[in-house]
Amino acid sequence: MQTFTVNTALDMHLHLRDEEMLKLVAPLSSKTFAGALVMPNLVPPITTKEALLAYKQRIIEASGNDEFEPKMTLFFKNDYSYEFLEEMKDEIIAIKLYPAGITTNSETGVASMDVEELRPTLESMSKLGIPLCIHGETNGFVMDREKEFMPIYESIASAFPDLKIIMEHITTKDAVNLLDKYDNLHATVTLHHLLITLDDVAGGMLQPHLFCKPIAKRPEDRSALLEAALNAHSKLMFGSDSAPHPKHKKECCGCAAGVFTSPIALQVLADLFEKNGKLENLNSFVSLNAQKIYNYKPKEKLIKLIKKDFFVPDAYRYNEELVVPMFAGEKLSWSIEE
Ligand code: NCD
Ligand code: ZN
Ligand code: ZN
Repeated sequence: MQTFTVNTALDMHLHLRDEEMLKLVAPLSSKTFAGALVMPNLVPPITTKEALLAYKQRIIEASGNDEFEPKMTLFFKNDYSYEFLEEMKDEIIAIKLYPAGITTNSETGVASMDVEELRPTLESMSKLGIPLCIHGETNGFVMDREKEFMPIYESIASAFPDLKIIMEHITTKDAVNLLDKYDNLHATVTLHHLLITLDDVAGGMLQPHLFCKPIAKRPEDRSALLEAALNAHSKLMFGSDSAPHPKHKKECCGCAAGVFTSPIALQVLADLFEKNGKLENLNSFVSLNAQKIYNYKPKEKLIKLIKKDFFVPDAYRYNEELVVPMFAGEKLSWSIEE
């Protein structure tokens, strides 16, 4: 039977939530991933050292005996002092910036993306070598939000040439193209944006479990993302953006944004890379690129995948709640060796 060893998988954009949901989803990442960049958009968001360290501890406890390193992030604020960031530097891998109200739990994000408004915190980050992750969308027309954000990425990248900037969960060919224009620009891409377009979300019957921010775009965008990922573009990393919401918040009027992919991510990536004859690039995409970009040396963790059917559960359960993964109830052709 065909096998493939994933060497030290890293998920550079992950939502682990908190409390009972955390206890359900953390083991679904820690089982296969060696580490993850953990998003700070809790309610309230992570903006203090106490909250960050306590959250990290809850994640470690929820991961049980798995070797798994949560790399923590702070929620960007305009008024972080240099002294505070200096104190936080060794506790965080990055700071995550959200335009206010642009996505789940981002209400207290920045009101303006004007570089001058952001300058105090960005200057400190640049001096201290703290990378900046951005949810890059304007509040324009939904299909154009990421494209409209490109000039904002450019203005920050050129104003702060020493600041490492990560365009999170890119969904357009415009973003792929921008990668090559600035040395200090990098990106994550999700599994679902390599697989689906807007047609899969809303072209037939509405698929709430594929609804996320940024919304999946056009076939040519997906092709550009896929080509960059399959060829292990050195400025592109895997970040699942696995974003679980309870079933009743997805299958309702006013569906929450987010696709839950952590339990199936590596299996589906193996299938995708194998089908395209690029399995040899998978370890760069899921690990080596991130190690270089973030200058992160994770502890080695080898996960053996086998080409054997895996039946994705219809849902995962915690308390009285259900969480529905991508490919729920379907059969995948790769599984994790137990
Ligand atoms: C994320 C979430 O639910 O926290 N949702 C999403 O659709 N991607 C937030 C985010 O990453 O924008
Ligand atoms: Zn986002
Ligand atoms: Zn996210």
